[in-house]
Amino acid sequence: MSAAWHVIGPLVDLPEGEPIGHRADRADGTRAEVVLVRRGDAVHAFHDRCPHRAAPLSELGFVDAEAGTLVCGWHYWAFALDSGDHTAVPGVRLCQYPVRVDADGLVSVDLSVRPAP
Ligand code: FES
Repeated sequence: MSAAWHVIGPLVDLPEGEPIGHRADRADGTRAEVVLVRRGDAVHAFHDRCPHRAAPLSELGFVDAEAGTLVCGWHYWAFALDSGDHTAVPGVRLCQYPVRVDADGLVSVDLSVRPAP
């Protein structure tokens, strides 16, 4: 499957260490729900639904900067920002979108990735 890069916006507009929700329509009409977390010059992007009970992480989640995790505020499942892996349950992870930060500082996300239904 070829990449489907979608421009989010300038890196400098993303707040540090705070989950930010972004919605985008794919070319096939499906809608991508993305949660973005900036850490310095890096940006992590995941499907914006907790795999436990589908809580929107951009609204109910928070970043534990010391642990490097995105934590769901409903039942406190924690996911590593680098990989999306649950920190305690093997095989449970957030669907992760590839992220690109271009030389001009624009952040893009590859929406060809599909979360499991
Ligand atoms: S819905 Fe996220 S931990 Fe339960």
